Amino acid sequence: MEKVLQMTDIVKHFKNVEALRGVSLSVNRGETVAIIGPSGSGKSTLLRCINRLEKINSGTIIINDEELCHTDSHGKAVYQPEKTVRRLCSETGMVFQHFNLFPHMTCLKNVSYGPIKVKKVPKEEALEDGL
Ligand SMILES: Nc1ncnc2c1ncn2[C@@H]1O[C@H](COP(=O)(O)OP(=O)(O)OP(=O)(O)O)[C@@H](O)[C@H]1O
Ligand SMILES: [Mg+2]
Repeated sequence: MEKVLQMTDIVKHFKNVEALRGVSLSVNRGETVAIIGPSGSGKSTLLRCINRLEKINSGTIIINDEELCHTDSHGKAVYQPEKTVRRLCSETGMVFQHFNLFPHMTCLKNVSYGPIKVKKVPKEEALEDGL
């Protein structure tokens, strides 16, 4: 089975808060995975680690069979060069808990803005997809 995401032994600290303690997760192509748990248990943090909105302290993340980061011999997370990180993260997506929409734009403009700006999708195509 083709894996689209593999996370192994993910550790993430915020100063003295241990948000993720050795979390591992594997997702196959086409599979739907629900992450459940009480408020503050680290669900959003885990998602934010997939697209490097948060940098992990240690662990391994593999997206579509390509490594985003691994742990070195000192136990510290080492990320791929910035260009690779951006490419891999552009293969992921997330809906923010607080939507963070641009208030001066319509819903359609909000959802098509990323593809147009970042992925250089032609405007007409991005607007059509957005509908
Ligand atoms: N930027 C941050 N700085 C400091 N602590 C943080 C930060 N982000 C998250 N935390 C802490 O990490 C822990 C996990 O938070 P997270 O937001 O991932 O939980 P959650 O499972 O998504 O909660 P909820 O169900 O309320 O959305 C919490 O203790 C939270 O206070
Ligand atoms: Mg959350």
